[in-house]
Amino acid sequence: MDAEIQQKYLTAGKIAAEAREFGKQKIIVGASVLKVSDEIEDKIKELGGGLAFPVQISFNNTAAHTCAEPDDDTVFKQGDLIKLDLGVHIEGYVADTAVTVDLGDNNNLVMASRNALEAALKLATPGRKVSEIGKVIHDEIVKMGFSPVKNLSGHGVGRFIIHGPPSIPNYEAYENVVLKEDMVIAIEPFASKGIGAIHETDNANIFMVVNKKPVRSQITRDVLKEISTYQGLPFTTRWLVKKFPALKVRMALRELLDLGIIHAYPPLPDKGLVSQAEHTVIVKDVPIVTTR
Ligand code: CO
Repeated sequence: MDAEIQQKYLTAGKIAAEAREFGKQKIIVGASVLKVSDEIEDKIKELGGGLAFPVQISFNNTAAHTCAEPDDDTVFKQGDLIKLDLGVHIEGYVADTAVTVDLGDNNNLVMASRNALEAALKLATPGRKVSEIGKVIHDEIVKMGFSPVKNLSGHGVGRFIIHGPPSIPNYEAYENVVLKEDMVIAIEPFASKGIGAIHETDNANIFMVVNKKPVRSQITRDVLKEISTYQGLPFTTRWLVKKFPALKVRMALRELLDLGIIHAYPPLPDKGLVSQAEHTVIVKDVPIVTTR
């Protein structure tokens, strides 16, 4: 890998790690999810990073893709199991990391995804079959008495790409994909007390541009112009409401969804509590974890 590019991945990773640790401290009983989300995003920018995607704070059974609403009055409660997932980029080069904060009594569940991640990271070496990584993740989680979430997986990252190939399964999937040196991958085991499968809900507020098409309404054109500054990366309602009236944002997002210009990514719950741990790693004989 080009030394300059590698440096950008490393810097993104360092900022992501710092923002994650900062955010972890903020997730306490009584704190506002809206305020914490804004604070973490401000921290990333203050450290010189770009937001690769909106800060996600998912509760309890929900594995991922929950994002604070612009008027969110949710506070963290005693007993909550919180997944904080954040993404940083430096000139497009992405770092993706997540941690689970246990406000209850679920230490073993938290340890299960963390142990699985640590075991998996050691295997991020050239020539490794992704199914081998999946097997190790599965075994670590099952050993602790939980289920891996099989329909969520790790993924490659790239320049302005937060989810690219290869897919890194959380179980021994029948895939013959082999890791190559310098691939940059995010490994993210999810350990579940549920069935080990998530389903989609509604009320998405994470979106991404997936198509270019002409738009007639001036309101929607204005909002789309702002969205274009996100450079093809995911965004959330909360960001747009800082620039436009909420009603205008709602109308524009509706039209953009109807036209198929943006896609919505809804919260993803399982049927029981879920923990997550995630790091980004550069595939090498000695893997480089950028978000450590
Ligand atoms: Co990820």
